[in-house]
Amino acid sequence: MASSSTTVFATVVGLALLLFVGSGSAQLNTNFYSKSCPKLFETIYPVVQAAVRREARMGASLLRLFFHDCFVNGCDGSILLDDTSSFTGEKNANPNRNSARGFDVIDSIKSAVEKACPGTVSCADVLAVTARDSTVLLGGPSWNVKLGRRDARTASQSAANNGIPPPTSNLTRLVSRFNALGLSARDLVALSGSHTVGQARCTSFRARIYNERNTLDASLARTRQSNCPSRSGSGDNNLAPLDAQSPTTFDNSYFGNLVSRRGLLHSDQQLFSGGSTDSIVRSYSGSQGAFRSDFVSGMVKMGDISPLTGSQGEIRRNCRRPN
Ligand code: HEM
Ligand SMILES: *[C@@H]1O[C@H](CO)[C@@H](O)[C@H](O)[C@H]1NC(C)=O
Repeated sequence: MASSSTTVFATVVGLALLLFVGSGSAQLNTNFYSKSCPKLFETIYPVVQAAVRREARMGASLLRLFFHDCFVNGCDGSILLDDTSSFTGEKNANPNRNSARGFDVIDSIKSAVEKACPGTVSCADVLAVTARDSTVLLGGPSWNVKLGRRDARTASQSAANNGIPPPTSNLTRLVSRFNALGLSARDLVALSGSHTVGQARCTSFRARIYNERNTLDASLARTRQSNCPSRSGSGDNNLAPLDAQSPTTFDNSYFGNLVSRRGLLHSDQQLFSGGSTDSIVRSYSGSQGAFRSDFVSGMVKMGDISPLTGSQGEIRRNCRRPN
């Protein structure tokens, strides 16, 4: 009797423990708002579509916001917070200052979502769905987005400076940063394929186009030099496409560029520079399907990075400030 009730007790405790340990990212699921906000996807998509029609690059900028959110204390909407008197946020951190954009579009999306389902959907989840819709609108793959993230109440500039790898990174550094967040070298290469769209500032690629002649196609170097002066401080914000072939189309031409030494960023070319990821780059350059399918799994894994769930954090009403 005593031993059978002990067994039952142990089983209950065991199950409770399993549920507890299994929480965190396991709580995210694709149906999270199916009852509380059934029209969520139909609410978000047209706002993203209008923004991308107005300016195709905005699709790239919105996709990047999700990366910069997830790599800094997890996907918790922290990148969207403006600086306050009690904290200096991420918007003015090195990887974001004069670079991250699309915050006003996120505001419009959030307003539409608040109108449909007040106080229900987190800014972190808005970013996740927006990144997917942006990818689709530029011609990339679609996927079911896991939801249920909650929003941070604070943000950290230093966490952003340390968490997002700079474009001067070598392959070792890129792989180790991705590994630290549960992402593989394959995820690194597939997700870097986002650089098939969007623009970079001169300051992000200047050192490469003047100093890396051995690993950079000479004709691309000349073209880029013509709008990016060698002197630091002049033309710093001049833009160039990350994928010169098709900067507003989500395709696999980025990987073909790498194979022909036409990666714009040092970090891009590191993925094809005689190291362990060369074979992955080659396979994506030869197969749109392999790239698209690995990109989707990489995005889902990236979206699982340390979410706030359950009663953690809050559902921010305005993405720019804590409630
Ligand atoms: C692997 C490490 C990565 C590095 C070092 C890196 C670095 C950069 C840099 C330096 C820029 C140009 C910023 C500027 O000059 O203003 C950029 C742009 C961009 N990045 Fe990355 N990135 C990385 C990974 C990713 C990932 C994982 C994604 C998305 C999943 C992404 C999406 C983008 C997009 C879409 C743009 C263009 C944004 C625009 O036009 O507004 N990047 N990245
Ligand atoms: C890669 O970069 C890190 C610092 O970011 C440096 O410590 C390391 O020596 C570099 N590795 C190689 C192989 O150059």
